[in-house]
Amino acid sequence: MTSAMNLKMQSDNNSKKTDKKLLDVLQGQKTKTPPFWLMRQAGRYLPEYLELRAEAGSFLDLVYNPEFAAEVTLQPIRRFGMDAAILFSDILVIPHALGQHVEFVKGEGPKLNPLSSAEDLKILEQDKIHEILAPIYQTIKNIKSAFVHENLGQTSLIGFAGSPWTVACYMVEGSGSKDFAKTKNWAYSDPNGFDQLIDILVQATASYLIHQIEAGAEVVKLFDSWAGILDEALFERLVIVPTQKIINLVKTEYPDVPVIAFARGAGIQHLNYARHSGASAIAIDQMTPLVWAAENIQPILPVQGNLDPFCLLAGGDTLDRSIKNILDVLQDGPFIFNLGHGIHKDTPPAHVEQLSRIIQNY
Ligand code: CP3
Repeated sequence: MTSAMNLKMQSDNNSKKTDKKLLDVLQGQKTKTPPFWLMRQAGRYLPEYLELRAEAGSFLDLVYNPEFAAEVTLQPIRRFGMDAAILFSDILVIPHALGQHVEFVKGEGPKLNPLSSAEDLKILEQDKIHEILAPIYQTIKNIKSAFVHENLGQTSLIGFAGSPWTVACYMVEGSGSKDFAKTKNWAYSDPNGFDQLIDILVQATASYLIHQIEAGAEVVKLFDSWAGILDEALFERLVIVPTQKIINLVKTEYPDVPVIAFARGAGIQHLNYARHSGASAIAIDQMTPLVWAAENIQPILPVQGNLDPFCLLAGGDTLDRSIKNILDVLQDGPFIFNLGHGIHKDTPPAHVEQLSRIIQNY
């Protein structure tokens, strides 16, 4: 981005620099070095995570334990000094809170009792979700008080939820899948029925994010990990429109809380996503070309991304070069450094240290 454009962005929004780099960038400012954090930064590559995970019991036991979940959220911040902590939870707590059976099977990932038609939507109940999600709001409060006690005044707390399309994929398929065939088939063959599911998710997700903000989340992020398998019409109907509705609902209550939106695999459709979703920033995956993002997305919104998690896993000179290349291309505009997808569980923590050093000394 040209410096004239930067100046324009800064003067347009009259924003003041805060002591939190992430918030500055989300207001459209450029920072000397970018704020950084990593998707799935709390997780299995950290021995201290594995220890608490074993003590907690199941993955969901860990998610619904406000002391442990807060602790796990803070572990990577203490080690590597990321500019943001992301709430430790999962996108599948929404189906769980709506009453669908959800469990995480070791080595296999999530398993749900699949929904296959509009008839099955009757099992979903909106009125109990906040009772079930209450421990997560408590986790957020615990993290915020740890920020005070541990002198983490420059760290921002990101809350999150899955986007309706991606969450629906797991609810309908009952697990991960390579093509989410059943879900797409339902979306095409019974649009009214499928849109009812999406509407339930829009309401629950917006309300969940609003409660996270009430509890202390300073930024929220929407994860649409399977956005990239949709054609233009479905992308509009199932990704852009529901995202727009959620962001509108959140902004009605909290107009100043930024929303980062991630539509993995969206390619050129990122343009419409950036223009029409109402997001405050766009997270891009590693498949998105850097110069394209700098020229097309960054003039519209701040960009977050996009190191390949496998490059971080590999480490060495390639890691150095890839990080510098991303910084060279995107650091001229408002930019948040991150991975293009979640960190790989076999990543050596030393590689994350290397990344943190390169970014902080850029
Ligand atoms: O980023 C963070 O550190 C915050 C925590 C977080 C988790 N999941 C913890 C987790 C976040 C933001 C998520 C989001 C999530 N969950 C997404 C969207 C982002 C993406 O990766 O595409 C999706 C699709 C899920 C659903 C999910 N959760 C799957 C498919 C799996 C199994 C695959 C895997 O990586 O194991 C999970 C489990 C999960 N969620 C783990 C963690 C740390 C690993 C479980 C464990 O510790 O046993």
